[in-house]
Amino acid sequence: MAQVEIKNDGKVVEVPDGSVLAVLDGKCSILFACKSGSCASCKVRVVEGMENLEPPNEVEKMGLETFATDPSERLMCVAKIKSGKIVVEY
Ligand code: FES
Repeated sequence: MAQVEIKNDGKVVEVPDGSVLAVLDGKCSILFACKSGSCASCKVRVVEGMENLEPPNEVEKMGLETFATDPSERLMCVAKIKSGKIVVEY
């Protein structure tokens, strides 16, 4: 199992290795709206463990080009975790 720590919530959520992080919907305070990489409601800053995420796919790249202001930002609805732990905040 992989782990996602959401600093704003002060909690760690476990998800299966290889999960698209939309699985966090309803398990933390990150807001998920479109779940398709086009609204940025789920944008977070990855403060630890970026290496444990798959590189952005084409959908996420388009969303990040539009909404991200920093290379540490990712869209949780389309980002995929490989394994291990990441720490995020928003
Ligand atoms: S929920 Fe809209 S971009 Fe992630």
